[in-house]
Amino acid sequence: MKIVVLYGGNSPEREVSLLSGKAVGKALRRKGHNILLLDTAKNTFVKNILKASPDCVFVALHGERGEDGIVQGLLETLNIPYTGSGVRASAICMNKIVTKKILTYHKIPTPAFVEVQKDKCPRLPFSFPAVVKPANMGSTIGIKVVHNKKEMLTAIKECFKLDSEVFIEEYIKGTEVTVGILGNQKPELLPVIEIETATGFYDYKAKYTPGGSRHIIPARIDKKIVKKIECIALNTYKILGCSGFARMEIIVRKGTPYVLDVNTIPGMTDTSLLPDAARAKGISFDELCEKIVKLGIERCQKQKKE
Ligand SMILES: Nc1ncnc2c1ncn2[C@@H]1O[C@H](COP(=O)(O)OP(=O)(O)O)[C@@H](O)[C@H]1O
Ligand SMILES: [Mg+2]
Repeated sequence: MKIVVLYGGNSPEREVSLLSGKAVGKALRRKGHNILLLDTAKNTFVKNILKASPDCVFVALHGERGEDGIVQGLLETLNIPYTGSGVRASAICMNKIVTKKILTYHKIPTPAFVEVQKDKCPRLPFSFPAVVKPANMGSTIGIKVVHNKKEMLTAIKECFKLDSEVFIEEYIKGTEVTVGILGNQKPELLPVIEIETATGFYDYKAKYTPGGSRHIIPARIDKKIVKKIECIALNTYKILGCSGFARMEIIVRKGTPYVLDVNTIPGMTDTSLLPDAARAKGISFDELCEKIVKLGIERCQKQKKE
C-alpha cells in the first residue's frame, strides 16, 4: 500500500511526534509498504498528500493541529482514509474539560474539577493539594500540583499564558495505570500497564528520559480491580466515539479507577506505552502499525457505505 505518514507539526509536542512518525514509517516500510513522511509544519504537505494519492494517511501527530480533529477534517474533505479517531472524538478528547463533562454525565469516575475564569479566584469543592491544568495541552505541559491558594493563583496565571481554558482538579493519590485499546466497532483491550515514576508524577521528564519511568506489565493490581479498569477504559472509548486506537490514563485510588486523560494519538515509538502493551499481547510494533492502518481504511469504507 501507499501510505503517507504525517508527523512533526507545530504543536509543543513536535519533538515527540517526529519520533513517533519516524518509528511508524520504518515499521510500515519493513512490512513492505511504500511510505512517504510529510511534516505538517511545512504547508506544502497538503499539496504533497494530493500528489501522492495514498491508500491511507497515518496521522502520527500529537497535540493541536494533529490530534484535535483539524487534520482529520482536512483528510475527510480530501476523501482520504486516515488512522485513528474521526473528527468528533479527536476534538472531544483533545479538550480535557469537555471530556470530563461527558464522562461525568455517563457516571465514569474522573477526578472532581472546577473550571477557572480568568482573573477570578476559584472556590475549590475539594481540599489541597490540587492540580492546575490547561484544557488543551498534552505531555504534562503547564500542569502543576499546588498546595495552597498562593501557589494555585500563580499556577493559574501561568496556565492562562498557554491556554484560554484552565481547570483545577482534585489530586488523586494512587496507582497510575494506562490502558491501550485497538479497534473500531469491536474494540479490544491491551494489557493494563502500571506506570512507576521516581516522583509519583508522570511528567515530561519521566515520560521522555530513559529510566524516568517504568512500565510494569501486568500491573501489580488485584484482578477484580483490573477488570474494573478494563471495563471503564472500554466504556470511555465507546462513549467518546474513539476508533482505531487510543490510550487511556487512569489513577486507581482505593479500588476506584479515575480517568485522567484520553490520548487518541498516543506515543508511537517502539518503546512507547501502547506498543509495549501490544507486544505483551503478542502484537509486534510492525504488526501494530499495520493493524492501525487497516482499521483506518475499514472505518473509512464503513463511513462511505452509510
Ligand atoms: N488529578 C491528578 N492527581 C494526581 N496526579 C495527576 C493528576 N492529574 C495529572 N496527574 C499526573 O500528571 C500526569 C499528566 O497529566 P494528564 O492529565 O494526563 O495530562 P497530559 O495530557 O499532559 O498527559 C499524569 O500522568 C499524572 O502522573
Ligand atoms: Mg496524560
